[in-house]
Amino acid sequence: MDDRLPSLALHSSAPPRTTSLEERLERGEVVFYSTCPFLLPQGEDREFLLAQRGGWGQKNINFKPATGMARGFRKQSADQVARLRQLLADFSAHATTWLSTTLPGYAKSWRLDQVTFRPEEEHGRRLPQAARNDLLHIDAFPGRPSNGDRILRLFANVNLTEPRVWLTSLPFPQLLERYGTDAGLPCRKPLDRSFFWEPIMACLQPARRRRSEYDRFMLRFHDYLKANREFQATGPKREWSFPPGSAWLAFTDSASHAVLRGRYALEHSYFVAPEALTLPHESPAARLQRACGVPVLKS
Ligand code: SIN
Ligand code: FE
Repeated sequence: MDDRLPSLALHSSAPPRTTSLEERLERGEVVFYSTCPFLLPQGEDREFLLAQRGGWGQKNINFKPATGMARGFRKQSADQVARLRQLLADFSAHATTWLSTTLPGYAKSWRLDQVTFRPEEEHGRRLPQAARNDLLHIDAFPGRPSNGDRILRLFANVNLTEPRVWLTSLPFPQLLERYGTDAGLPCRKPLDRSFFWEPIMACLQPARRRRSEYDRFMLRFHDYLKANREFQATGPKREWSFPPGSAWLAFTDSASHAVLRGRYALEHSYFVAPEALTLPHESPAARLQRACGVPVLKS
């Protein structure tokens, strides 16, 4: 067994206590803030942001806090590039400052992933099935394997008038129980796209983070859920309408979700290590390892 993952501890008979934000998030809840609790771009900055368009074939505009680089947008001038980078860097700083005080236990060791700006209307977007946002799924990033670190995402709707509309469904534990075997648990996995791509990518980009069994399963499960018509049609659903100026937070590797409508969202992703979790034995990696009985993380 992988020693990054704790074994399941027996519960004590401690008195019930209120559920912490960490527990709610780690169990797959979406936590909603009707007014975004940190500063969003205002006035001319917001107008400038909403005028930006995605580059050809790009799903979103993205910014990496680690390098200060922004990509995926139509470039018009050096001033425009510098202003957009600054605006996304400011969003990253404001979001991260607020989240560090709200979830200090995570902030000690989290890795800042990336910021995205989502300028396209989601309703009726034409994307390949595995890239569609309007089909229920859990998140796994093909180019950024997490090796069991959890994917925490903070969204803000910067649209002036329109809500962003989401569906959510079952959390990871119930999805794993219902569909894990059919999707192919690591002990009995069918050949998937990573089986062919992983050795090729390892040669082409030796510095790239390698996928663990966990990452391969999560990608397979992401694709499987999007392709599963029975789950899409009959899975329990809750609709969320996130109004302009609101924000929401979720571990999207557990909270299954789809976006049905809306344009102009800002989002920041963070990788949270198992050691920083309040309920590490309930993480997707720990549950997957128990379900299949083989190590799923690279040590
Ligand atoms: C996603 O499925 O991760 C996208 C959600 C969104 O853009 O609102
Ligand atoms: Fe997603």
